[in-house]
Amino acid sequence: MMDSVAVNLAYIVAAALFVFGLKMLGSPATARRGNALSAAGMLIAVVVTLLSKGILEWHWIAVAMLVGAVIGALAARLVAMTSMPEMVALFNGTGGAASLLVGWAALYGDGSTFTAITVTLSVLIGGVTLSGSILAWGKLSEAFGSRAVVFGAQRFVNGLILVGLLAAGVLFVMQPAPDSPVFFVILGLALLLGVMAVLPIGGADMPVVISLLNSYSGLAACAAGFAINNNILIVSGSLVGAAGIILTNIMCKAMNRSLANVLFSGFGAVATASKVEGEVKPINAEDAYLILEAASSVTFVPGYGMAVAQAQHAVHELGELLEGNGCEVTFAIHPVAGRMPGHMNVLLAEASVPYDQLVEMEDINRRMETVDVAVVIGANDVVNPAARQDEGSPIYGMPIINVDHARTVFVLKRSMASGFAGVDNPLFFGDNTRMLFGDAKASIMGMVAQFKD
Ligand code: TAP
Repeated sequence: MMDSVAVNLAYIVAAALFVFGLKMLGSPATARRGNALSAAGMLIAVVVTLLSKGILEWHWIAVAMLVGAVIGALAARLVAMTSMPEMVALFNGTGGAASLLVGWAALYGDGSTFTAITVTLSVLIGGVTLSGSILAWGKLSEAFGSRAVVFGAQRFVNGLILVGLLAAGVLFVMQPAPDSPVFFVILGLALLLGVMAVLPIGGADMPVVISLLNSYSGLAACAAGFAINNNILIVSGSLVGAAGIILTNIMCKAMNRSLANVLFSGFGAVATASKVEGEVKPINAEDAYLILEAASSVTFVPGYGMAVAQAQHAVHELGELLEGNGCEVTFAIHPVAGRMPGHMNVLLAEASVPYDQLVEMEDINRRMETVDVAVVIGANDVVNPAARQDEGSPIYGMPIINVDHARTVFVLKRSMASGFAGVDNPLFFGDNTRMLFGDAKASIMGMVAQFKD
């Protein structure tokens, strides 16, 4: 057993590692080290907790670490980059479940009012996170369909659940016991509330809800930390809670929506977008090459399709060839391009695209009129001018990368199909737009081949 001073010192070291790790996640150049640092902090926290409380002998800790490491490594290798949001949803759910169970177990300790309150909170928030995350996973993976489900009495039913939870919470705190029927009422209502909260959210709003659930999983862990009086659980839970809510806020801003609008408006459930029609002008790789060869500034705008096609290495090669040709090359990244925060940054970093070529949406929009060619690689919603022009569109108001303001736009995609939000895109019919149909990687390789000829 370790004395409490040594334990708290170890916890301070772990907390410092979390904070520095989080800070380093803010830049692609330091993100890997930041991740490793935070993981080291978590290792210290878990090992010290288990040893100090005499919960497990060290050899069992080693066995559990080995099993966990194998599962983690397999998940990291086997889960496709495009399925990361689903995985994060499941991780959030397990975080919620863990806090719920820790809170529940704390009831077998002391029966004080403070413990009862914190247990109620950890079971409530943990339960909401667990069922909400499972539904979010189902929506993202299309296992339960991805649309928002909105019905008339939704808010009334949610209100009833909240009142029920409040009443049950008060009753339980007055007479806490692990086998109290009121406890199971709280558990059931919390699970129901999680489902009800995620039901009206769908389509392009799902990333926001995943981030919010991530924040909830942190709050649940924090409450569980108070329930079992564990400092590092309180600290790490607060960090996750705060980081999740900051990310949620950034995403809401990127879509120009309030959180309340995301949570209650039922995205895509009642779309009244105008039908887009017009003439499509296809182009082939040879003609695209001729235009690129004469361009003095080119901006690549990657989206989900670049991830599907795994075109990042080919894009980097094309960028280098263009630079060699005296062209200024930039990569404009929309905050919600792809399927998870930072998705495009990760792919471009993997392909060693220099960080100084990455530009943010606001920067490139300011000078888009001066860009000779904007090359849209499997992006759709994040470059859809309907977000600016069509008040009936479900994505109306979402800031986009204004590629339609560039002198020429190439759109690389396989068909005229819509993107994640399921709305038509007038960009494809623009006078200055040329559609380069086909798999994005094949199209880019085609242009690269022309450059090399
Ligand atoms: P999307 O609007 O989803 O469009 C992707 C486009 O890629 C599709 O229209 C598809 O058209 C094309 N595509 C797919 N495979 C391709 C391939 N192999 N080669 C070439 N093109 C391919 O993507 P986006 O513009 O990146 O926007 C992201 C959307 O996802 C937003 O609505 C956002 O709100 C949402 N979302 C974002 C996140 C985060 S946090 N980034 C998380 C979840 C959801 P074809 O089928 O015609 O090829």
